[in-house]
Amino acid sequence: MRANIPRAYFESIYAANSDPWNFETSSYERSKYEATMAALPRARYESAFEPGCSIGVLSEMLAPRCQRLLATDIVTGALVQAAERLKGHRHVRIEERAIPEEWPRETFDLIVLSEIAYYFDEATLGDVMRLVIGSTWVGAHVIGVHWRGETDYPLRGDRVHELISETELLVPLIHLGGDEFVLDVWERRS
Ligand SMILES: C[S@@+](CC[C@H](N)C(=O)[O-])C[C@H]1O[C@@H](n2cnc3c(N)ncnc32)[C@H](O)[C@@H]1O
Repeated sequence: MRANIPRAYFESIYAANSDPWNFETSSYERSKYEATMAALPRARYESAFEPGCSIGVLSEMLAPRCQRLLATDIVTGALVQAAERLKGHRHVRIEERAIPEEWPRETFDLIVLSEIAYYFDEATLGDVMRLVIGSTWVGAHVIGVHWRGETDYPLRGDRVHELISETELLVPLIHLGGDEFVLDVWERRS
């Protein structure tokens, strides 16, 4: 049986607070975002995908580094805020999509898994990683960033990164394991 966190859980979180993780103001988020941007091996990407984009704070930082960016989430209210934040960026698409069921039929050279993969159980994360491999060019980068603390979610951050590291055709490029978050960059090989 699958044990992913359901849409209703996230909808109730956003109903109570429009920025439930304080993405706009928290120093943890700010340093995580800066580390994420600094770790991207290329200055520019042709086609990037950020599933679980929330209100678009990281998407706004990614936008100048991408020719095209698809940012998606499962909660409409979060996407309304993301669309407002990114309305000046015509190369950014904001779409409601549940992952993995509504994974886009596109090919990317960057996929950003920032604080989303621990909402999946191990089997679903395996499905997600097969979709990642099926929708990336050779040489594409996958970046994962997750909080390392205890959670009520199906997976802990470190376990997420162990599982992603087992994905065939992904080779590790960068690993940062600080006190608060773990960050890895992998490259898609042929
Ligand atoms: C902690 S936020 C991460 C936001 C952003 N990636 C960042 O690092 O700033 C997780 C987001 O993932 C979304 N989410 C959770 N499960 C999802 C799923 N199955 N499909 C799409 N989005 C999902 C939630 O609605 C929430 O907005």
